[in-house]
Amino acid sequence: RKRMVSGVQPTGSIHLGNYLGAIKNWIDLQNAYETLFFIVDLHAITLPYETQQLAKSTRDTAAIYLACGVDTTKASVFVQSHVRAHVELMWLLSSATPIGWLNKMIQFKEKSRKAGDENVGVALLTYPVLMASDILLYQSDFVPVGEDQKQHLELTREIAQRVNNLYGGRKWKKLGGRGGTIFKVPEPLIPPSGARIMSLTDGLSKMSKSAPSDQSRINLLDPKDAIANKIKRCKTDSFPGLEFDNPERPECNNLLSIYQLISGKTKEEVAQECQDMNWGVFKNLITDALVDHLHPIQVRYEEITSDSRYLDGVLAEGAGKASEIAEATLNNVYQAMGFLRR
Ligand code: TYM
Repeated sequence: RKRMVSGVQPTGSIHLGNYLGAIKNWIDLQNAYETLFFIVDLHAITLPYETQQLAKSTRDTAAIYLACGVDTTKASVFVQSHVRAHVELMWLLSSATPIGWLNKMIQFKEKSRKAGDENVGVALLTYPVLMASDILLYQSDFVPVGEDQKQHLELTREIAQRVNNLYGGRKWKKLGGRGGTIFKVPEPLIPPSGARIMSLTDGLSKMSKSAPSDQSRINLLDPKDAIANKIKRCKTDSFPGLEFDNPERPECNNLLSIYQLISGKTKEEVAQECQDMNWGVFKNLITDALVDHLHPIQVRYEEITSDSRYLDGVLAEGAGKASEIAEATLNNVYQAMGFLRR
């Protein structure tokens, strides 16, 4: 069976971008593949963070995965830091990753510019090597993510190929290994729509956890009133009717796309339904669709978080299964790189 892995950082609240760009696709694809979903707590410390919040956010993020429909009878759900091999492999990979590759990363440039010199730790630069480790440890075939992770996935592929070339094949065989490739080279799965959900207050910037204004995003756990209020105040335009794909109407395209994904309709159906609508009517429509879609998720979230033993059990079992796969890969890498066996 082909394998698929993905994860979300436990920073801030999970929003519609995370859901439509990634988590919703995990659910749609989890029956087709063997899946592992992790909460990347080690990535969450790459910018200044609140120690009092980290553990809670990690659990809450796990609860959101389950509430959104991740099926623990099929998928392994676990916390990144609970499987030590992630950090260990990262060190090995970082020896084969030129600094120049990391300096080119758009997210590193953006985040370090915003954070200011004092707050830019080495880990912010090496962040994508840890991400490569998350993926390569499991010999993953596919990684469902939003558009903003595409460059990190390309880097992961390059690191995998470089390690395969440097240490795989006949060289590895001479060391007593099986020879051949060390890592499978993974492919990103980026959805045709929803891969880049934009801010509610500016159709040209992406919806993000770190944007200062909460009005710019719909969080999965927002109550009905908050959703209605955010949609009421979101940015619109004064063109007649509503349409997809008009470059002069980024907000319109974004809201129609959200409506389409949330309602489960096709683009054509939505285009037709909304072509003669005014904003007032459409805002009521999208608000109702959002509330209807998110309500059951919120109910399940409450159920899951009310029983902490259940969630702990899921995470322990997930970490156990993940560790087995991860250890096997890690042992191969140590062997191929010529380390003395323990
Ligand atoms: P993170 O936590 O920033 O985002 C989690 C997922 O949500 C997607 N996403 C979006 N999709 C559409 N529109 C948006 N506005 C939007 N904002 C976020 C992201 O693309 C992502 O899929 N580095 C990763 C986490 C990670 C990871 C991994 C992912 C660490 N290791 C291994 C996959 C595999 C991150 O910070 O995602």
